[in-house]
Amino acid sequence: MPYRVGLLVGRERSFPEGLIEEIRRRGTDVTAAYAEIDATRIDRPPPYDVLVDRISHDVPCYQPALKLALLAGTRVVNNPFWRIADDKFIGTAIAQKLGVAVPKTVLLPSKEYGPDITSGSLRNLKYPIDWRGIVEELGLPIFMKPHWGGGWRDVHKVTSLEELLRRYDRTAKLTMIAQEAIEWTQYVRCIVIGREEVRPALWDPRHGHFDRYAKASQSMAPLSAELEERVIRDARTLCRALGYEMNTVEFAVRDGVPYAIDFMNSAPDFDITSLGEAHFRWVVEKMADLCIRLAKEGPVSPAPMRWDALLSA
Ligand SMILES: Nc1ncnc2c1ncn2[C@@H]1O[C@H](COP(=O)(O)OP(=O)(O)O)[C@@H](O)[C@H]1O
Ligand SMILES: [Mg+2]
Repeated sequence: MPYRVGLLVGRERSFPEGLIEEIRRRGTDVTAAYAEIDATRIDRPPPYDVLVDRISHDVPCYQPALKLALLAGTRVVNNPFWRIADDKFIGTAIAQKLGVAVPKTVLLPSKEYGPDITSGSLRNLKYPIDWRGIVEELGLPIFMKPHWGGGWRDVHKVTSLEELLRRYDRTAKLTMIAQEAIEWTQYVRCIVIGREEVRPALWDPRHGHFDRYAKASQSMAPLSAELEERVIRDARTLCRALGYEMNTVEFAVRDGVPYAIDFMNSAPDFDITSLGEAHFRWVVEKMADLCIRLAKEGPVSPAPMRWDALLSA
């Protein structure tokens, strides 16, 4: 029986089709195709050796099926337990503990709560928030963004206390973090595959979506060898600690120090139109290597989260 790799995808086309074609081209006993998820029974997990999850952040009903698959021995990229457990606040704390530079970061109480929550439900929450103290500690400008987010949704750069409050007042039930804005001279995005393979690239968030990789070298200096080595090391440290097999890790460089900004991109943008031909080829090849390796390795024992131990206890 050939090994089976299944892909869970949204609307993207170039990456999944490139990956399926690359795995086929290798001519091994590993096959790849779009996965099919039916109404799932607990004793009939999805029948794949590897599942590449590009979309469960937007299609949450896949998440329990992916956890079941992992429990049954499927290698899921990215690990659904890790992916769902982490957030930008705890991730930043973990990064700091591991010696990676991060912006000063504060977790904020929400502006609003559900209809069942009254002031009696919030007795643990200190009130009012010391906004002035937060601004003094972080300095201005400040980035305010959801602790769990993506695609720049609800990300705001504010330049005054008044603007911070105005933005905060519109965040409704989101959990937000406030973060020192790193005023950078270079911005780097590292594409990381299989935790160890790292491709650092200048990436300029000031450009439009399709030009961020392509035009970055026109608007900032190239990375020194020393800086390149450091971002590669830091990106590996973060992906090993947080268990990401496929990720992009962003650093803003200020005074020669790379600060980790966004490093929990469980389904990074792998589209050829934004990556460009060279990065795209690299991603497809490294992902094919990873899928083939994981398929042949089979289940990890003991399972990384020790769910097997918990269940057999
Ligand atoms: N603390 C920060 N300092 C400097 N720039 C930041 C900071 N936080 C966010 N940004 C900018 O905002 C963009 C979006 O923020 P990010 O944390 O990546 O959110 P998302 O997960 O929605 O992509 C980043 O790519 C970066 O350009
Ligand atoms: Mg981002």
